[in-house]
Amino acid sequence: MKIIGINGSPRREGNTSRMLAALFETLRAEGIETELIQVGGTDIRGCLSCYACIRNRDRQCSAKQDCFNGIFEKMVAADGMVLASPTYFADITPELKALIDRSGFVSKANGGLFRHKVGAGVVSLRRGGGIHAYDSINHLFQICQMFIVGSTYWNLGFGGREGDEVLRDNEALENMDDLGRSMAFLLKKLNN
Ligand SMILES: Cc1cc2nc3c(=O)[nH]c(=O)nc-3n(C[C@H](O)[C@H](O)[C@H](O)COP(=O)(O)O)c2cc1C
Repeated sequence: MKIIGINGSPRREGNTSRMLAALFETLRAEGIETELIQVGGTDIRGCLSCYACIRNRDRQCSAKQDCFNGIFEKMVAADGMVLASPTYFADITPELKALIDRSGFVSKANGGLFRHKVGAGVVSLRRGGGIHAYDSINHLFQICQMFIVGSTYWNLGFGGREGDEVLRDNEALENMDDLGRSMAFLLKKLNN
């Protein structure tokens, strides 16, 4: 059983990736394989609205010049996915939004490739707007027949410019631990 974590922050070692690392620690302790995938700061482009995925139905996006298809393959192969983002103007980063738009379209165009996968959103923020970003992530899961896992609070962690402040947000880290346990619990039930 495998869960991939996608970091929407351009900062590879910022608050968002530290939240994913805390979550991964618990998942691995539960026997779940994990892989971190970077989308923030990559060359990913937004959906071109060409509708070729609907015509071709070949499990790919026709725009092949960026990193999308490689990431999408990993999303389809995994049992679950965690989409993580810092809050940018009360929303997710444009790179993660591009991934959501394109992966949602290609998965649906091909008969529901995300159906019955496990999903969770994780968001870091400095002060406000995190819930809106969290909702943006959950929109993908909710329209793709996925199972969303929650925790003891919404999956938010506070951090700022230095990029490691979230390590002092104990409630966020406890929440990541609980989220990892619940994701593992559900995955084990689904694969029973
Ligand atoms: C362009 C930009 C916009 C931001 N907008 C917000 C915001 O609307 N609300 C907020 O609380 N923090 C905002 N922040 C702060 C980051 O969301 C926060 O520091 C986050 O923890 C950074 O995550 P990272 O270290 O993984 O990059 C913004 C940061 C940047 C660079």
